[in-house]
Amino acid sequence: MTVRVGQAGLGEWGKNLARNFADLADLVWLADPADGKAEEFRSRYPQARWAESFEEMLEDATLDAVVVATPVPTHYELAKLALEAGKHVFVEKPPAMKSAEIDELVSIAEERDLVLMPGHLLLYHPGVLKLKELVDGGELGEVLMVYGNRQNLGVIRKHENALWSLGVHDLSVILYLLDEDPVEAVALGQSLLKTGVEDVVFCYLRFPSGKIAHMHLSWLDPHKMRKMTVVGTEKMAVFDDMELDRKVTVYEKSPWRPVDTYGEWQTRTGDIHIPKIPTDEPLKLECRAFLSLVEGEGDRRQIARDGARVVRALDMLTTSLDGG
Ligand SMILES: NC(=O)c1ccc[n+]([C@@H]2O[C@H](COP(=O)([O-])OP(=O)(O)OC[C@H]3O[C@@H](n4cnc5c(N)ncnc54)[C@H](O)[C@@H]3O)[C@@H](O)[C@H]2O)c1
Repeated sequence: MTVRVGQAGLGEWGKNLARNFADLADLVWLADPADGKAEEFRSRYPQARWAESFEEMLEDATLDAVVVATPVPTHYELAKLALEAGKHVFVEKPPAMKSAEIDELVSIAEERDLVLMPGHLLLYHPGVLKLKELVDGGELGEVLMVYGNRQNLGVIRKHENALWSLGVHDLSVILYLLDEDPVEAVALGQSLLKTGVEDVVFCYLRFPSGKIAHMHLSWLDPHKMRKMTVVGTEKMAVFDDMELDRKVTVYEKSPWRPVDTYGEWQTRTGDIHIPKIPTDEPLKLECRAFLSLVEGEGDRRQIARDGARVVRALDMLTTSLDGG
């Protein structure tokens, strides 16, 4: 079966999704009300019909799945419309801005046995998959903490703050690696350029097992960092997306307590290992994963629930950031 896909939103990111879905599936509908989009994308994808509205593409009974790549505040409403029309949904991150909204989307998807997949791109990055393998395989020992750095100078957003724009990526990875929901979430940030939009946010999360995580999120920074560090009792691992050929580095560094030092902690350092990471395009892997779920492979309920977990944690952090 070739999945018949319609896509709403053909902006900076949406065009990458359209390229992949045109390659991997039948891209049969496109929609974007912005000036000039119809001319540009009709010529690029002549096989696709142009919808004057989102509802118009949903009326096509032969359409299997919808891709939502519109601005964040529209995600919940469009995803809900598509699910209610019986379509499988790939919705860019974050799929909703409130826990209640994502819970509603998940329950509609479950009731109708539809795929609801949020676009957490990093979960398809071979480097992050390697980190997960190291964590789950026990190579790092027991994980004590995870922290993310996502900093750069720009892009300075006007509507969504650094937590919602940048943090959603790192949060999805932290929750994927630890497979727990936080019991405590604290966020502190500051709107330095535009009132009400935090340009820099520091987050702290604590999990039931005692593991902790933090994130430094900022678009006002001299360093371009996209890094995730995992500290274990045996080894430590770093995923660095700015590196070309050493995306993951495993350090034999750990605390240890020799028997003859009366319980005092010492540190140990050993080799540094750089595993080979495949160079497959994460976005292509992500689009393929969505199509496989639509075709009936994998656990479609789990992917939606994992997405809900990220929105719930974002919601907790937002309450804290707002002083709640
Ligand atoms: N996964 C990633 O790494 C990644 C990277 C960048 C952006 N994103 C996400 O992708 C989404 C889009 O981001 P972008 O940078 O392309 O934004 P953008 O502003 O460049 O594009 C959004 C497009 O959606 C269109 N649109 C708005 N309402 C619509 C509707 N009802 N129907 C159809 N089209 C509509 C707009 O006209 C615009 O062209 C955002 O949710 C963003 O969070 C994800």
